[in-house]
Amino acid sequence: MKTLFFQSNIDRGDWWAEELTKRLPNLEIRIWPDVGDPAEIDYALVWLPEKGLLKTMPNLKVVLSLGAGVDHIFRDPDLPVGVPICRVVDPNLTQRMTEYVLLHVLRYHRQQPAYDALQRSATWEELGQPAAGDRTVGIMGLGELGGDAAVHLVALGFHVVSWTRTAKELDGLERFHSYYGADGLEPFLNRAEILVCLLPLTPETRDILNSDLFAQLPEGAYLINAARGHHLVEADLIPALDSGRLAGATLDVFRQEPLPADHPFWRHPKITVTPHIASISDPRSVADLVAENIRRTESGEPLLNPVDPAVGY
Ligand code: NAP
Ligand code: GLV
Repeated sequence: MKTLFFQSNIDRGDWWAEELTKRLPNLEIRIWPDVGDPAEIDYALVWLPEKGLLKTMPNLKVVLSLGAGVDHIFRDPDLPVGVPICRVVDPNLTQRMTEYVLLHVLRYHRQQPAYDALQRSATWEELGQPAAGDRTVGIMGLGELGGDAAVHLVALGFHVVSWTRTAKELDGLERFHSYYGADGLEPFLNRAEILVCLLPLTPETRDILNSDLFAQLPEGAYLINAARGHHLVEADLIPALDSGRLAGATLDVFRQEPLPADHPFWRHPKITVTPHIASISDPRSVADLVAENIRRTESGEPLLNPVDPAVGY
């Protein structure tokens, strides 16, 4: 009998337990705060684990992130040494993020916020409409999520530029150009009329969405941040919107979640807020991956989707 410890700030423990039990009927599942004897825990499936808690589990074999990002694990300065950390790469999760990116890119491209405002004043007015082929979308981070969004945006006719840490290509993709590294950032930003952030949160990417970066975008660019709240310097956003440097922003993630009710982002006319739902891990799909990584650990096979602690994603 193996034991899995589950902790998440989102109350879905019973759902995860149900899906995992279907796949691994002999797995004992303990849901926070029921840790029991920490020495009995073999696996930890977590989102935002208590700092220092994982280190109290001397026989922990793998830490499994409940999401694609692992910043919520690396924020713990006291992680167990030498225990591998795996993240979610899942077609369902990727599809949901692509839906979110396409929805908000198209909404800006087709000027839906302006048409919503015209409707409120019962104004029948046609706005000039550029073709998708006259618009460039910039994607920061061309990993599992950014890569899929890029392919779908190109299929819709957009030009797509990407920015990554290391050199990247999407073989044979038309209307696509990649930039990378510190030298690639400015030429990338200069082209990004709709900027989509899909970076992991690491010391290098924290606070990257700030007024200096906005100044390098085309005047009146749009921002879509579906990555992490700490990518954005929140104090820099409203001045950029009010001055017209940015025309609009869609934010799914925030420095403080839930976003406090008195936060100005809720009510700013050029900001769209969603409650970190761009792409959630659905237990009906992701439990397959968790079960497979447990099976692989037990049979000594290489894990799926391990992260590199040296780069932080
Ligand atoms: P991934 O596959 O690890 O891809 C990350 C991409 O970011 C890679 O292309 C990587 O470059 C690039 N990158 C990392 N550090 C960089 C740096 N310092 N400078 C430039 N580029 C850098 O990650 P993913 O699966 O696509 O997920 C991305 C993020 O989305 C997650 O970490 C998470 O924060 C966020 N997310 C949010 C939601 C939501 O609901 N809002 C849901 C899922 C995920 P290389 O290709 O060169 O390595
Ligand atoms: C969600 O934010 C994730 O990282 O999967």
